[in-house]
Amino acid sequence: MSPSAAPLREPRSGYPPGARVLFTGEQIRSTVERMAGEIRAAYGEQELTVVAVLHGGLVFAADLIRRLDMPLRLGVVMASSYRGEAREPAALELPQHPQLDVADRHVLLLDDILDTGRTLSALAERLGALGPRSLRTVTLLDKPSRRVVPIQADFRGFEIPDLFVVGYGLDFNERYRNLPDIVALPPPATGPRPG
Ligand code: XMP
Repeated sequence: MSPSAAPLREPRSGYPPGARVLFTGEQIRSTVERMAGEIRAAYGEQELTVVAVLHGGLVFAADLIRRLDMPLRLGVVMASSYRGEAREPAALELPQHPQLDVADRHVLLLDDILDTGRTLSALAERLGALGPRSLRTVTLLDKPSRRVVPIQADFRGFEIPDLFVVGYGLDFNERYRNLPDIVALPPPATGPRPG
């Protein structure tokens, strides 16, 4: 599904000023349902270990796993690359270990958004070294135009252009994670961004 160009019909409290709705909660629900169908088809009845990247993947993980009916374990890892009000990734901080064992498990690494690809590829490498039986990746949003590391998610929801988005778990300076829609922030006022 491609982004709708619909502006917010009226300013709503809690939304960033000047934001534009890319995907409504309803569009997100049907895309998550479609993704769950693809994941069910790939794994069947096999037990799945979902490793969700916090904090951004929290809302997506909560919705996705409730649509999966195979035996399922949920673990989390913390990775952070955006700092405060910055829209550009800072140095990536990764945990030493996921908090759930993954050896000999079917592991599905879940993140909210695939941007430069640094986070997902570094985490996949880290998890892959722990000997999972299989390792796949799932992301709700994909910004392929920003890719620095060549990685594609095995399951993905929406492809978006180079916009900074918030809502449905994604934040700007820790705000807006609670929005039911995914919205694009207006571009920064000051010139083109570096890198
Ligand atoms: P990389 O560049 O490693 O980025 O693929 C993945 C992580 O960066 C964060 N990210 C965003 N967060 N709006 C956000 O709120 C965005 O548009 C955005 N782009 C990247 C996110 O935490 C993701 O896990």
